Order: sequence, then structure tokens, then C-alpha cells
Amino acid sequence: MTLTACGSTEDAFENDGFVADDVVPAEVDLADPAANELMIPPLLEPAQDGVARFDLSLGESSHDFGSGVPAETISYNNQSILGPTLLWRSGSDVEISVTNDLDEGTTAHWHGADVPAEDDGGPHSRIGPGQTWVADFEVIQSAATLWYHPHMMGTSAEQVFHGAAGMIIVEDDNPAAAGLPSTYGVDDIPVILQDREFTADGQLSFEIDNDDDGDQNPDLTVNGTIDPYTTVPAGPVRLRLLNGSQARVYELSVDNGMMVKIASDGGYLPSPVELETITMGPGDRAEIIVDTSTGPVALLDDDFGRVLQLRPDISLPTAEFPPNQLAGIEVIDAEEIDSDRTFVMDEVGNGWGINGDQMDMGRIDETVRFGDTERWTITVEDGIHTFHVHQTQFQILSINGEPPPPEHAGWEDTVLVTEDREVVIAARFDGYTSPDIPYMFHCHILDHEDLGMMGQFQVLDGP
Ligand code: C2O
Ligand code: CU
Ligand code: CU
Repeated sequence: MTLTACGSTEDAFENDGFVADDVVPAEVDLADPAANELMIPPLLEPAQDGVARFDLSLGESSHDFGSGVPAETISYNNQSILGPTLLWRSGSDVEISVTNDLDEGTTAHWHGADVPAEDDGGPHSRIGPGQTWVADFEVIQSAATLWYHPHMMGTSAEQVFHGAAGMIIVEDDNPAAAGLPSTYGVDDIPVILQDREFTADGQLSFEIDNDDDGDQNPDLTVNGTIDPYTTVPAGPVRLRLLNGSQARVYELSVDNGMMVKIASDGGYLPSPVELETITMGPGDRAEIIVDTSTGPVALLDDDFGRVLQLRPDISLPTAEFPPNQLAGIEVIDAEEIDSDRTFVMDEVGNGWGINGDQMDMGRIDETVRFGDTERWTITVEDGIHTFHVHQTQFQILSINGEPPPPEHAGWEDTVLVTEDREVVIAARFDGYTSPDIPYMFHCHILDHEDLGMMGQFQVLDGP
């Protein structure tokens, strides 16, 4: 991997050819101050040496989303909602124990992590009520924003909706990223986007929807906060965006012009990419840099209007804007492809399926030879979907036959696929074999996943 720092993207923010008004949805009155301080989940930062140990326990809790009425939620480690952010260092050994204090089963899946199948926390790794499950593995990937959430067959949507999710930050020693904003909660902000629905008396109202775009909820919460603001330095600010929603796709922008995307699902892009808008399907992550040096900045969504208000405080120290090169990415080329597969996402029975089948935990759908590079073509007959693959990060080879735009030229583990958007991806299956427990591929619209739009693959040593 070659990493060089040269120049900076600071100029991108001085570009005044772009009119911010273009992206401000009509219903947002940006003059209105945001109502609630953004909840920042605590960061669990292990000691530098030895095995990094984390303890998580999932249990019942209650949380005030900002309306003044505590709602019943579930959360990790007795937070009111969500879980702590886990800091993993690339190359280190991690051990995570997960205790289930609910009265129903759960699992803990590390979304985007390249880990052995028995540590992956998929539907086969059920943690019964009162039980503890331990995952231990080496962090073999580069810096990235990942997340964790339950992956129980049939109840993932409900558990995530009620608050079971958390962020994971993988850190490495990439020198190109050393100057970037990285003070957690200060200039490096977790932004967990989740839409929710409430009853008239302020309780969460969950529903699973077999509609072609899943269940769209009317209220936006960010880290469990409605209409949030947070105080940041006056300068570059990194937002770690995570779409942890049941089904919603966001169309994000900032009210002062451009934002710069520096990382996709699997880590840094080769170079920062200036964007007016960014589309995020369920399960997607993106790291962006915004500039608060000239005043408050609002992150906006096409449907919801203001997502988050950033209020600069000039007394806080500022970090650097990103350099022009962030990471060397070894591009997967056609020569490397050992085999092809096709995945058709469509309605099956009363729910959803892939290649005509609904999820069956007793059936292995695909067997991949360890060490192979595969090309997967994903098409949609009906609906809006995001295709997610466990264990590996992939590269997008094409979207409707065209090479992906630069903001999708890095590593991804989740990609939006619709009737009008055929996607071809390539992945190297050289991390782990999985002779005992399979890995999953599925739609990350959680309604669809729970309604059967999931399959299982094994990675096996081949002849
Ligand atoms: Cu985010 Cu299979 O999961
Ligand atoms: Cu996953
Ligand atoms: Cu779907």
C-alpha cells in the first residue's frame, strides 16, 4: 500500500460556484435553533497493549428522544439507547463478550468486519436470555467505520429499531490520515441515522412492512436524539455517517455547499471526493468532512430537512483538511476473476428472497473456494434493496454497465440496488474459510431481511 500526503482539499470548500440554496428543502427553517444536544455514545477505548477486551450487555432501558417522555428501548451497557462506540486498532486482537439480558434471543454481528464465521454473530450464533457469547479475532482490516447490531432471524428489524446498535471505529497508522479530525465527539462525530415512529403517548411503535421499500418511519433520530445540535471547532469536522435505519434511504447534503467524502464502508477512499449530495441506503456508512470555519452548518436530508446542526466554537483547536491522497487501494481487475455468480432480488412467497429462495438456515446457497476472487452481478425484479455481504469488503465494478463514480471507488460491504440500478461487484475471499458456520448475504432493508431476503455462503478450501 502506498500512502502519500500532498496538498489539501481546503480549496474545495472555497468553491462558490455551488449555491447552497439548491439543496435546502423548502420546509426547513434554518433560522430555528435545533432543540436538543446530540447524544454522543461513550467511546470504549481499550489499553494499547495486549488483547483489547470489550464487554457488552444488551438489556431493557428507557430513553427520552427529546420529547420529554421516556420511551421503552433496548440498549447495550445500560445506556438509554444504542451501545458504546468500540475502538478497534488495526492489527490488534480483540475479545468481546456479549451478554443477553433480554428475555428473547439475540446475536451480535460486527457489520463490515472481516472475521471468522464463528465470531461474525450471524443468525447461527444465537445468544439465549441470560447467556454470554464471546467473539475473539484479530482486526485484519484498515481504518474504517463499522457497526454492530443483532442478526436474529426474524427479529433483527425490531431489535435494531428499539435501540440495539452501536458504532465501531477501526483505527490504523495511515500517515495520510494523521492530521484529520479525530477527537471523538468533538471534531469526529458519530452520526447514527435512524427513523422511528412513536405512539401518541411517546412510546416506540414498531411495525414490519413487506412493502417494496420496507417500513418508512416519520421521525428522524440521530444517535437517538430528535432535532439535534452539537458544538464543534470552527474548521474541518468529520462526520461518521451510519444509516442504521430499518429501511429508509437518505439523500444528504450540507447547507453551506460542498462536503468531502473521505471514506466509504470499508475505509478511506484513494482521494477525497467533493459531493453536493450523498445517498445512503440501510447499512451504509460514509465519512465526510464539512467546514464550520465560517459559521454553523446544517446537515440536511431531502425528506426530513435538517438532520444535525453543527455549532462552531472558535475556542476549540482545529484539525486539518484532508490531503489529496488518502489511501492506496489495490484495484481488483478482470484478470483476477475466478468465477461469476448472479443474485436476483425479488418477491418470493409472502415476503422477499434472493434467486427465488427465502432464507433457510439449513440450506447453503453458495460455496466459494477459499482464495478465489469472484464477480457477483446483482439485479432487482421488484423493490428497493441494499445488498450486503458478510466477511469481505468488495469493490463495485459497474453500476448499469458504467464504472462507479469516484465516491464508490473504494471498499464497500453494502450497496444500493434497484430495478434501475444493476450492480456488479468483485470480492476476494481470502480472509477465512467457514467449514462449520456460514456467512450471510442479504438485503439490509431490515424488513426484507427478516422476511426472507437473505442467503448463506460458505468459504471452503477447494481442490
Ligand atoms: Cu448489518 Cu448481515 O448485517
Ligand atoms: Cu454484516
Ligand atoms: Cu430489500
